[in-house]
Amino acid sequence: MKVAVLGAAGGIGQALSLLLKTQLPAGSELALYDVAPVVPGVAVDLSHIPTDVKVQGFGKDDLASALQGCDIVLIPAGVPRKPGMDRSDLFNINAGIVKNLVEGIADNCPEACTCIITNPVNTTVAIAAETLKAKGVYNKNKLFGVTTLDVIRAETFVAELKGLSSTSVHVPVIGGHSGTTILPLLSQVEGVTFSDEEVASLTTRIQNAGTEVVEAKAGGGSATLSMGQAAARFCLSLVAAMKGDNVVEYTYVETNSDDAVFFSHPVRLGANGVEEILSYGELSDFEQNAKDSMLDGLRGDIELGVKFVNG
Ligand code: NAD
Ligand code: LMR
Repeated sequence: MKVAVLGAAGGIGQALSLLLKTQLPAGSELALYDVAPVVPGVAVDLSHIPTDVKVQGFGKDDLASALQGCDIVLIPAGVPRKPGMDRSDLFNINAGIVKNLVEGIADNCPEACTCIITNPVNTTVAIAAETLKAKGVYNKNKLFGVTTLDVIRAETFVAELKGLSSTSVHVPVIGGHSGTTILPLLSQVEGVTFSDEEVASLTTRIQNAGTEVVEAKAGGGSATLSMGQAAARFCLSLVAAMKGDNVVEYTYVETNSDDAVFFSHPVRLGANGVEEILSYGELSDFEQNAKDSMLDGLRGDIELGVKFVNG
Protein backbone atom coordinates (compact mmCIF):
# COMPACT_ATOMS: atom_id res chain seq x y z
CA MET A 1 0.00 0.00 0.00
CA LYS A 2 1.44 3.39 -0.99
CA VAL A 3 -0.19 6.51 0.44
CA ALA A 4 0.75 10.09 -0.52
CA VAL A 5 -0.01 13.22 1.48
CA LEU A 6 0.10 16.38 -0.68
CA GLY A 7 0.61 19.37 1.60
CA ALA A 8 2.43 17.18 4.10
CA ALA A 9 4.40 19.99 5.74
CA GLY A 10 1.28 21.88 6.84
CA GLY A 11 -0.73 21.74 10.04
CA ILE A 12 -2.99 18.92 8.87
CA GLY A 13 -0.30 17.31 6.75
CA GLN A 14 2.11 16.82 9.65
CA ALA A 15 -0.51 15.54 12.11
CA LEU A 16 -1.94 13.20 9.47
CA SER A 17 1.49 11.93 8.43
CA LEU A 18 2.39 11.16 12.03
CA LEU A 19 -0.81 9.14 12.51
CA LEU A 20 -0.26 7.28 9.24
CA LYS A 21 3.39 6.53 10.08
CA THR A 22 2.25 4.89 13.30
CA GLN A 23 -0.96 3.25 12.05
CA LEU A 24 -0.59 2.13 8.41
CA PRO A 25 -0.06 -1.60 8.03
CA ALA A 26 3.52 -2.87 8.10
CA GLY A 27 5.14 -2.77 4.68
CA SER A 28 3.26 0.38 3.57
CA GLU A 29 4.97 3.38 1.99
CA LEU A 30 4.18 6.98 2.88
CA ALA A 31 5.12 9.71 0.37
CA LEU A 32 5.15 13.26 1.75
CA TYR A 33 4.92 16.06 -0.82
CA ASP A 34 4.87 19.82 -0.23
CA VAL A 35 6.11 23.00 -1.89
CA ALA A 36 7.51 24.13 1.50
CA PRO A 37 11.25 23.44 1.78
CA VAL A 38 10.80 21.82 5.21
CA VAL A 39 9.15 18.70 3.77
CA PRO A 40 12.30 16.53 3.54
CA GLY A 41 12.89 17.37 7.22
CA VAL A 42 9.37 16.30 8.16
CA ALA A 43 10.04 12.98 6.43
CA VAL A 44 13.41 12.48 8.17
CA ASP A 45 11.82 13.33 11.52
CA LEU A 46 9.02 10.77 11.03
CA SER A 47 11.45 8.17 9.70
CA HIS A 48 13.01 7.89 13.17
CA ILE A 49 9.78 6.41 14.57
CA PRO A 50 10.22 2.63 14.72
CA THR A 51 7.36 1.30 12.57
CA ASP A 52 7.52 -0.76 9.38
CA VAL A 53 6.21 2.12 7.26
CA LYS A 54 8.75 3.65 4.87
CA VAL A 55 8.55 7.46 4.72
CA GLN A 56 10.00 9.61 1.94
CA GLY A 57 9.85 13.37 1.44
CA PHE A 58 9.37 15.00 -1.97
CA GLY A 59 9.93 18.69 -2.69
CA LYS A 60 8.30 21.12 -5.09
CA ASP A 61 9.63 19.59 -8.34
CA ASP A 62 9.12 15.95 -7.35
CA LEU A 63 5.33 15.55 -7.50
CA ALA A 64 5.55 12.78 -10.12
CA SER A 65 7.91 10.66 -8.02
CA ALA A 66 5.74 11.16 -4.95
CA LEU A 67 2.66 9.95 -6.82
CA GLN A 68 3.95 7.03 -8.89
CA GLY A 69 2.50 3.73 -7.63
CA CYS A 70 0.12 5.36 -5.13
CA ASP A 71 -3.05 3.56 -4.01
CA ILE A 72 -4.39 6.48 -1.95
CA VAL A 73 -3.67 10.21 -2.25
CA LEU A 74 -4.77 12.63 0.48
CA ILE A 75 -4.80 16.37 -0.35
CA PRO A 76 -4.65 18.88 2.51
CA ALA A 77 -2.56 21.38 0.45
CA GLY A 78 -3.72 24.98 0.43
CA VAL A 79 -4.51 27.94 2.65
CA PRO A 80 -6.71 27.76 5.76
CA ARG A 81 -9.26 30.33 6.99
CA LYS A 82 -8.67 33.27 9.30
CA PRO A 83 -11.37 34.78 11.55
CA GLY A 84 -14.07 36.57 9.53
CA MET A 85 -13.60 34.41 6.44
CA ASP A 86 -15.92 31.77 5.00
CA ARG A 87 -14.53 28.59 3.45
CA SER A 88 -15.62 29.97 0.05
CA ASP A 89 -13.14 32.86 0.52
CA LEU A 90 -10.36 30.26 0.04
CA PHE A 91 -11.55 29.40 -3.48
CA ASN A 92 -9.33 31.89 -5.34
CA ILE A 93 -6.10 30.35 -4.02
CA ASN A 94 -7.06 26.74 -3.35
CA ALA A 95 -8.93 25.99 -6.61
CA GLY A 96 -5.74 26.25 -8.69
CA ILE A 97 -3.69 24.27 -6.14
CA VAL A 98 -6.18 21.38 -6.20
CA LYS A 99 -6.44 21.42 -9.99
CA ASN A 100 -2.62 21.23 -10.42
CA LEU A 101 -2.21 18.44 -7.89
CA VAL A 102 -5.07 16.41 -9.37
CA GLU A 103 -3.52 16.79 -12.83
CA GLY A 104 -0.44 15.18 -11.28
CA ILE A 105 -2.60 12.32 -10.00
CA ALA A 106 -4.16 11.85 -13.45
CA ASP A 107 -0.69 11.67 -15.03
CA ASN A 108 1.03 9.48 -12.46
CA CYS A 109 -1.48 7.33 -10.54
CA PRO A 110 -4.88 7.59 -12.26
CA GLU A 111 -6.12 4.46 -10.46
CA ALA A 112 -5.53 5.90 -6.98
CA CYS A 113 -8.30 6.84 -4.56
CA THR A 114 -8.14 10.65 -4.23
CA CYS A 115 -9.30 12.18 -0.94
CA ILE A 116 -9.82 15.95 -0.93
CA ILE A 117 -9.42 17.83 2.35
CA THR A 118 -8.61 21.30 0.92
CA ASN A 119 -11.43 23.83 1.33
CA PRO A 120 -13.92 24.73 0.07
CA VAL A 121 -14.54 20.96 -0.14
CA ASN A 122 -18.03 21.46 -1.65
CA THR A 123 -16.25 23.01 -4.66
CA THR A 124 -12.74 21.48 -4.70
CA VAL A 125 -14.18 17.96 -5.12
CA ALA A 126 -16.03 19.15 -8.23
CA ILE A 127 -12.78 20.72 -9.47
CA ALA A 128 -11.01 17.40 -8.95
CA ALA A 129 -13.75 15.50 -10.82
CA GLU A 130 -13.71 17.87 -13.80
CA THR A 131 -9.89 17.82 -13.90
CA LEU A 132 -9.85 14.01 -13.97
CA LYS A 133 -12.61 14.02 -16.65
CA ALA A 134 -10.57 16.42 -18.79
CA LYS A 135 -7.67 13.94 -18.56
CA GLY A 136 -10.02 11.04 -19.43
CA VAL A 137 -9.38 9.14 -16.18
CA TYR A 138 -12.33 10.03 -13.93
CA ASN A 139 -13.71 7.18 -11.84
CA LYS A 140 -16.48 8.42 -9.55
CA ASN A 141 -15.86 5.50 -7.20
CA LYS A 142 -12.37 6.78 -6.41
CA LEU A 143 -12.95 10.44 -5.55
CA PHE A 144 -13.89 11.45 -2.01
CA GLY A 145 -14.42 14.70 -0.15
CA VAL A 146 -13.28 14.07 3.40
CA THR A 147 -16.15 15.07 5.72
CA THR A 148 -15.14 12.78 8.59
CA LEU A 149 -14.34 15.79 10.80
CA ASP A 150 -18.05 16.69 10.87
CA VAL A 151 -18.84 13.15 12.04
CA ILE A 152 -16.24 13.04 14.81
CA ARG A 153 -17.29 16.49 16.03
CA ALA A 154 -20.95 15.49 16.07
CA GLU A 155 -20.10 12.36 18.05
CA THR A 156 -17.98 14.33 20.54
CA PHE A 157 -20.63 17.02 21.10
CA VAL A 158 -23.50 14.51 21.51
CA ALA A 159 -21.45 12.41 23.94
CA GLU A 160 -20.56 15.53 25.98
CA LEU A 161 -24.18 16.72 26.11
CA LYS A 162 -25.60 13.34 27.10
CA GLY A 163 -22.77 12.19 29.40
CA LEU A 164 -21.94 9.20 27.17
CA SER A 165 -18.66 7.66 26.09
CA SER A 166 -17.76 9.24 22.75
CA THR A 167 -16.70 5.84 21.40
CA SER A 168 -20.25 4.52 21.77
CA VAL A 169 -22.02 7.38 19.94
CA HIS A 170 -22.58 7.27 16.17
CA VAL A 171 -23.98 10.35 14.41
CA PRO A 172 -24.71 10.38 10.68
CA VAL A 173 -23.75 13.67 8.97
CA ILE A 174 -24.85 14.19 5.36
CA GLY A 175 -24.71 17.02 2.79
CA GLY A 176 -21.58 19.08 2.22
CA HIS A 177 -18.82 20.65 4.29
CA SER A 178 -19.66 24.27 5.02
CA GLY A 179 -22.25 26.08 7.12
CA THR A 180 -25.79 24.82 6.69
CA THR A 181 -24.76 22.28 4.04
CA ILE A 182 -23.40 20.22 6.99
CA LEU A 183 -26.48 18.29 8.13
CA PRO A 184 -26.23 16.05 11.22
CA LEU A 185 -29.07 13.51 11.48
CA LEU A 186 -29.67 13.64 15.22
CA SER A 187 -32.99 11.84 14.79
CA GLN A 188 -31.00 8.73 13.85
CA VAL A 189 -28.69 8.61 16.87
CA GLU A 190 -29.49 5.27 18.50
CA GLY A 191 -30.52 5.18 22.15
CA VAL A 192 -30.51 8.99 22.59
CA THR A 193 -33.40 11.45 22.50
CA PHE A 194 -33.13 15.21 22.10
CA SER A 195 -35.53 18.07 22.84
CA ASP A 196 -36.32 20.43 19.92
CA GLU A 197 -34.05 23.04 21.57
CA GLU A 198 -31.19 20.53 21.81
CA VAL A 199 -31.59 19.56 18.15
CA ALA A 200 -31.49 23.21 17.07
CA SER A 201 -28.48 24.17 19.21
CA LEU A 202 -26.45 21.00 18.53
CA THR A 203 -27.07 21.28 14.79
CA THR A 204 -25.83 24.88 14.81
CA ARG A 205 -22.79 23.96 16.92
CA ILE A 206 -21.81 21.13 14.56
CA GLN A 207 -22.27 23.41 11.53
CA ASN A 208 -20.14 26.15 13.12
CA ALA A 209 -17.49 23.92 14.71
CA GLY A 210 -14.87 24.87 12.10
CA THR A 211 -15.45 28.56 12.88
CA GLU A 212 -15.22 27.77 16.62
CA VAL A 213 -11.64 26.51 16.02
CA VAL A 214 -10.73 29.35 13.60
CA GLU A 215 -11.81 31.94 16.19
CA ALA A 216 -10.04 30.15 19.06
CA LYS A 217 -6.81 30.03 17.02
CA ALA A 218 -7.20 33.81 16.48
CA GLY A 219 -5.50 34.07 13.08
CA GLY A 220 -3.28 30.99 13.53
CA GLY A 221 -5.26 28.83 11.11
CA SER A 222 -8.07 26.30 11.36
CA ALA A 223 -8.50 22.76 12.68
CA THR A 224 -5.34 20.72 12.11
CA LEU A 225 -5.08 18.11 14.88
CA SER A 226 -8.72 16.97 14.87
CA MET A 227 -8.59 17.07 11.06
CA GLY A 228 -5.42 14.99 11.06
CA GLN A 229 -7.27 12.42 13.18
CA ALA A 230 -10.36 12.56 10.94
CA ALA A 231 -8.35 12.12 7.74
CA ALA A 232 -6.30 9.30 9.25
CA ARG A 233 -9.54 7.53 10.22
CA PHE A 234 -10.87 7.91 6.68
CA CYS A 235 -7.60 6.74 5.09
CA LEU A 236 -7.29 3.73 7.42
CA SER A 237 -10.93 2.81 6.65
CA LEU A 238 -10.07 2.88 2.93
CA VAL A 239 -6.98 0.74 3.55
CA ALA A 240 -9.03 -1.77 5.58
CA ALA A 241 -11.71 -1.87 2.88
CA MET A 242 -9.09 -2.45 0.17
CA LYS A 243 -7.90 -5.42 2.18
CA GLY A 244 -11.42 -6.90 2.30
CA ASP A 245 -12.99 -5.50 5.50
CA ASN A 246 -16.59 -4.31 5.46
CA VAL A 247 -16.34 -0.58 6.25
CA VAL A 248 -18.90 2.24 6.05
CA GLU A 249 -17.90 5.92 6.29
CA TYR A 250 -19.82 9.14 5.61
CA THR A 251 -18.08 10.90 2.71
CA TYR A 252 -18.83 13.46 -0.01
CA VAL A 253 -19.08 11.49 -3.27
CA GLU A 254 -20.78 11.68 -6.65
CA THR A 255 -24.29 10.29 -6.28
CA ASN A 256 -27.19 9.64 -8.64
CA SER A 257 -29.63 11.25 -6.22
CA ASP A 258 -31.76 14.34 -6.81
CA ASP A 259 -30.08 16.15 -3.92
CA ALA A 260 -26.89 17.35 -5.62
CA VAL A 261 -24.22 15.85 -7.88
CA PHE A 262 -21.95 15.50 -4.83
CA PHE A 263 -23.46 14.76 -1.45
CA SER A 264 -22.15 13.16 1.70
CA HIS A 265 -23.77 9.75 2.18
CA PRO A 266 -22.99 6.62 4.13
CA VAL A 267 -20.75 4.73 1.72
CA ARG A 268 -19.68 1.09 1.83
CA LEU A 269 -16.00 1.11 0.90
CA GLY A 270 -14.31 -1.73 -0.93
CA ALA A 271 -11.28 -2.80 -2.92
CA ASN A 272 -12.09 -0.25 -5.63
CA GLY A 273 -13.18 2.70 -3.52
CA VAL A 274 -16.95 3.17 -3.37
CA GLU A 275 -18.57 -0.27 -3.22
CA GLU A 276 -22.10 0.98 -2.56
CA ILE A 277 -23.70 4.32 -1.78
CA LEU A 278 -26.18 3.62 1.00
CA SER A 279 -29.38 5.49 1.72
CA TYR A 280 -29.23 8.04 4.52
CA GLY A 281 -32.68 6.91 5.60
CA GLU A 282 -35.68 8.81 6.91
CA LEU A 283 -35.27 12.45 7.91
CA SER A 284 -37.19 14.24 10.67
CA ASP A 285 -39.22 17.31 9.63
CA PHE A 286 -36.44 19.52 11.03
CA GLU A 287 -33.81 17.70 8.95
CA GLN A 288 -35.95 17.65 5.81
CA ASN A 289 -36.51 21.43 6.05
CA ALA A 290 -32.81 22.01 6.71
CA LYS A 291 -31.90 19.88 3.68
CA ASP A 292 -34.43 21.62 1.41
CA SER A 293 -33.10 25.05 2.38
CA MET A 294 -29.43 24.26 1.78
CA LEU A 295 -29.56 22.33 -1.51
CA ASP A 296 -29.47 25.37 -3.83
CA GLY A 297 -26.36 26.67 -2.05
CA LEU A 298 -24.61 23.31 -2.30
CA ARG A 299 -25.49 22.96 -5.99
CA GLY A 300 -24.09 26.47 -6.58
CA ASP A 301 -20.83 25.54 -4.82
CA ILE A 302 -20.51 22.51 -7.10
CA GLU A 303 -21.29 24.52 -10.23
CA LEU A 304 -18.53 26.98 -9.33
CA GLY A 305 -16.02 24.12 -9.40
CA VAL A 306 -17.31 22.79 -12.72
CA LYS A 307 -17.04 26.28 -14.26
CA PHE A 308 -13.54 26.80 -12.84
CA VAL A 309 -12.25 23.86 -14.87
CA ASN A 310 -14.45 24.11 -17.95
CA GLY A 311 -14.71 27.90 -18.30
P1 NAD B 1 -1.42 24.90 6.40
O1 NAD B 1 -1.19 26.26 5.84
O2 NAD B 1 -0.93 24.60 7.76
O3 NAD B 1 -0.78 23.81 5.42
C1 NAD B 1 -1.01 23.81 4.06
C2 NAD B 1 0.21 23.21 3.38
O4 NAD B 1 -0.07 23.16 1.98
C3 NAD B 1 1.49 24.05 3.55
O5 NAD B 1 2.54 23.25 4.04
C4 NAD B 1 1.79 24.55 2.15
O6 NAD B 1 3.18 24.67 1.87
C5 NAD B 1 1.16 23.44 1.34
N1 NAD B 1 0.90 23.81 -0.06
C6 NAD B 1 0.44 24.98 -0.57
N2 NAD B 1 0.38 24.90 -1.91
C7 NAD B 1 0.80 23.66 -2.25
C8 NAD B 1 0.95 22.98 -3.48
N3 NAD B 1 0.67 23.55 -4.64
N4 NAD B 1 1.41 21.70 -3.44
C9 NAD B 1 1.70 21.10 -2.26
N5 NAD B 1 1.58 21.70 -1.07
C10 NAD B 1 1.14 22.97 -1.07
O7 NAD B 1 -3.00 24.61 6.29
P2 NAD B 1 -3.83 23.46 7.03
O8 NAD B 1 -4.32 23.98 8.33
O9 NAD B 1 -3.08 22.20 6.98
O10 NAD B 1 -5.14 23.39 6.06
C11 NAD B 1 -5.02 22.95 4.75
C12 NAD B 1 -6.36 22.97 4.05
O11 NAD B 1 -7.27 22.04 4.66
C13 NAD B 1 -7.09 24.32 4.10
O12 NAD B 1 -7.67 24.60 2.85
C14 NAD B 1 -8.17 24.11 5.15
O13 NAD B 1 -9.27 24.98 4.96
C15 NAD B 1 -8.53 22.68 4.88
N6 NAD B 1 -9.24 21.99 5.95
C16 NAD B 1 -10.22 21.10 5.61
C17 NAD B 1 -10.91 20.40 6.58
C18 NAD B 1 -11.98 19.42 6.21
O14 NAD B 1 -12.77 19.02 7.06
N7 NAD B 1 -12.06 18.95 4.97
C19 NAD B 1 -10.58 20.60 7.93
C20 NAD B 1 -9.58 21.50 8.25
C21 NAD B 1 -8.92 22.21 7.25
C1 LMR C 1 -13.18 22.73 9.56
O1 LMR C 1 -14.34 22.33 9.47
O2 LMR C 1 -12.58 22.84 10.64
C2 LMR C 1 -12.43 23.05 8.29
O3 LMR C 1 -13.28 23.02 7.19
C3 LMR C 1 -11.63 24.31 8.38
C4 LMR C 1 -12.47 25.55 8.43
O4 LMR C 1 -12.13 26.50 7.72
O5 LMR C 1 -13.42 25.61 9.20
